[in-house]
Amino acid sequence: MRDCKIVSRKFELPNSHTLEVSKAHGGYKTLEKLREHSPLEIIDIIKASNLRGKGGGGAPAGEKWELMPQNSLKPSFLAVNCDESEPGTFKDRQIITKDPHLLIEGILITCYAIRAKHAYIYIRGEYKQFQDILQGAIDEAYEDGLLKECDITVHRGAGAYICGEKSALLESMEGKRGHPRLKPKQKEPEWFFDNPTLVNNVETIATVPFIVQNGADAYRAFGTEQSPGTLLFSMSGHVQKPGVYEAEFGTSMMEYIRHFGGGVKGGKKLKAVIPGGVSCGVLTAEECENLTLDYEALRCMRSSLGTGGMILMDEDTDMVVALKNILEFYHEESCGQCTPCREGTGWSDKLVAKILEKKGTKEDLNKLLEIADTMNGKTICVFAPAASAVIVDFMRKFRDEFEAKL
Ligand SMILES: Cc1cc2nc3c(=O)[nH]c(=O)nc-3n(C[C@H](O)[C@H](O)[C@H](O)COP(=O)(O)O)c2cc1C
Repeated sequence: MRDCKIVSRKFELPNSHTLEVSKAHGGYKTLEKLREHSPLEIIDIIKASNLRGKGGGGAPAGEKWELMPQNSLKPSFLAVNCDESEPGTFKDRQIITKDPHLLIEGILITCYAIRAKHAYIYIRGEYKQFQDILQGAIDEAYEDGLLKECDITVHRGAGAYICGEKSALLESMEGKRGHPRLKPKQKEPEWFFDNPTLVNNVETIATVPFIVQNGADAYRAFGTEQSPGTLLFSMSGHVQKPGVYEAEFGTSMMEYIRHFGGGVKGGKKLKAVIPGGVSCGVLTAEECENLTLDYEALRCMRSSLGTGGMILMDEDTDMVVALKNILEFYHEESCGQCTPCREGTGWSDKLVAKILEKKGTKEDLNKLLEIADTMNGKTICVFAPAASAVIVDFMRKFRDEFEAKL
């Protein structure tokens, strides 16, 4: 497998989180180069690289940056999304722990490109230890005079999965309850207190220094035509060596699992993989056999790459218990704004509990699918459609296990 450390290049160095180590290994070098380019030229470089957002959706970053006004009378903002609450996803916290200065460097370049003077890093409330590391790095950067033209504030959420959704995140930053906003009809920036705001994932921003330093082609040299570059894929569940390992898009999933993860834990057989955090459709072991890790390949399987957080399940996994586990999460985390989501997540969770207690009937299985249908496409954000797809996938691919419990 090709070595392609773009974001994780300094992860293994002792004290890699400090400014001293970062600078000794090329940290902040891009800032010297920055003034050679106008803000619009930086956006062009990002567009040419086809950098895709690494927070789950894979939206082209350059196109989003381009929506930010260059001559606004209102201040522009950058909000970096470090809510990272999707079960199975823990890559952004690796960046913050191992190389927070890479993120700060990326923030400075991004703010220059979108003409923002203030960036916020939104971090989930429970991640106090990561916030402390991040704040330490920001303090170092202030002391070193790196933040003369741009302020960075860490904003701690109160701990809600929905606050990772970009508009709920901004509501939360405005001091309100984290409810997603209605989507605008046309493409436009997000708004923070009525000011144009760009929301990007931590890893997306941490990839920017490499691209600006080495050029769009250097980034496109990795990955596939449509999914260029790399991702910090992660593995958890029944894997020998769980962790976060950077690989290029287009890598074979099974090769990745064997090479970095050492295969399935205890030498057991693989039963299923959730490829990108729990909101991505579950895949059977057979479906994973010739699968590559890129947006297009996963879409063809009617799943998605999400954040690249793979959850492995071995041959002994009870898929009804696994679904119950996921539905408890959705039930707990639904923000309650839309009725199909508020009611559907709770109802489906209770029905699966009933099936696990061996009190379920065939009608309950049909009811589960009916609820899933009601949750799909009828809500403000994609939380309920994701929960719906998870129910349908588990029942379609492992129906015999559900029936055996009736
Ligand atoms: C329920 C929900 C939770 C999300 N959680 C996160 C998150 O923790 N981190 C993240 O970067 N994006 C998350 N997203 C995606 C964001 O809405 C947004 O698309 C992303 O932050 C944009 O950054 P990117 O273009 O760099 O990926 C979530 C979306 C939904 C619907």
